[in-house]
Amino acid sequence: NCPGSLIVVSNRQPYRHEYESDGDGDDDERDRSITVDEPAGGLTAGLDPVVQEANGTWIAWGDGDADFAVADDDHCVEVPPDEGAYTLRRIDLSEEAVESYYYGFSNRVLWPLCHGFTDLINHRSNDFDWYRTVNERFADAVVEHAADDSIVWLQDYHFALAPRLIRQSVPASTTVAQFWHIPWPSPETFQQCPAAGHVLEGLLGNDLLGFHVDWYATEFLDCVEQYLPSASVDRREGTVRYDGHTTRVVATPMGVDADKYDRDARAVDRSQLTDIRTEYGIPDDTVLGLGVDRLDYAKGIPERFAALERFFERNPDWRGEFTFVQKSTPSRTDIPTYQRYGEHVRSEADRINCRFGTDDWQPIVYTEDYVEHEALCALYRYADVMVVSSLADGMNLVAQEYVAANVDGDGTLLLSDRAGAHERLGPHALTIDPTDADGTAAQLERALSMPIHERRQRMQTLRTRVFDHDLEAWMDTQFDWIRHVHGEQSTAT
Ligand code: G6P
Repeated sequence: NCPGSLIVVSNRQPYRHEYESDGDGDDDERDRSITVDEPAGGLTAGLDPVVQEANGTWIAWGDGDADFAVADDDHCVEVPPDEGAYTLRRIDLSEEAVESYYYGFSNRVLWPLCHGFTDLINHRSNDFDWYRTVNERFADAVVEHAADDSIVWLQDYHFALAPRLIRQSVPASTTVAQFWHIPWPSPETFQQCPAAGHVLEGLLGNDLLGFHVDWYATEFLDCVEQYLPSASVDRREGTVRYDGHTTRVVATPMGVDADKYDRDARAVDRSQLTDIRTEYGIPDDTVLGLGVDRLDYAKGIPERFAALERFFERNPDWRGEFTFVQKSTPSRTDIPTYQRYGEHVRSEADRINCRFGTDDWQPIVYTEDYVEHEALCALYRYADVMVVSSLADGMNLVAQEYVAANVDGDGTLLLSDRAGAHERLGPHALTIDPTDADGTAAQLERALSMPIHERRQRMQTLRTRVFDHDLEAWMDTQFDWIRHVHGEQSTAT
């Protein structure tokens, strides 16, 4: 239900073309066959059908080694492969551009800044210039594809400068919208943003700017008031007037494709769990805890392990009876902070396993292996407790995936009060302060001794919330808002 032709912009692309490795070291690309990775993340997977239906255009960084071999001279390829429902326009970034724009300003500055890890901000001299250059390149590509009435929908913190550049060069009837998927920091924290004024000005090129929760939107408005004194903020309307242009700022929490997780979880059975137990040496009858995260310092994985350690200290009876499976996906590993974090997480898991483990039982089964979607659904369905202990988290889709896949309705969610998802799920999950190991251990004890009827009741309410506010509902709300600002623009022109 997108009102005009749709142009989605994201850093990650929905399809990646790669040369198949032939294993014999012969690297003549012409002789090698090409494979296509299917969309992996929640966002790309969720947006893909919408862009397909709209016959839209998707602009993203082409990071696959065969991406440009399959694209035309304009770097466009029709996707999905063999169906050709929409155009994927790939942006070719040099290694230096990737190092400075992606590993640099995006992930060494904006990511830690917005998550409140100011001590991890590492701003190197060329990073912002490259960030600007890459934003200009994406903006130029958008301008080439935009027409009257187009809807440009940018995703996330990789594109803080592009909206203003786009707004200046597209017809007035084009709507420029952006969703910021990570938290927005307080003015005090935002003070540490290099080029703070440019970032805010860039974002105020949007007609619509979305955040997951009210609190981020409010902090954004606070920052605008503090750092762009000539902007006029209308809090009741949720608008900012700056440099002759109005931006509407909204909070629209994202959901997951709940039906798909429900369906896929119903399709698995206990034999898949048995296979997982066998593969990882998990005794058959132990109660299962689960953590699923990108290996990122914002996710609070060592804090979760500290709580598990407290739990096993306080509850010797649970030793040998409860196993915590931690599935981590390595991420942004070119950045030393991420490398050190990974080492720390692994060594903490080892240390706790040495402390409590026995010949036939480990308290933490830690894996960075790729886990197939089916196996993930089996874990979600049969895990007795899921722990999400983020120290900061825009939303956290994993918590919602667990709930959607918990089709037997008897699992329990421990959820950090610092994740955006807590706004929606908080009262019915068991709330934790991730930095309080004792408190989290106590909530785990509570989960493991909770009467079945209370578990079912809580999970039932969680499921209602997750299904009522699923990905489709989020998309509808986005397009309602887009239509709204689009209508305002049409009246104004
Ligand atoms: C977060 C961000 C996304 C990003 C994802 C994976 O969820 O909000 O924009 O795509 O992490 O990170 P990566 O750096 O691998 O794209």
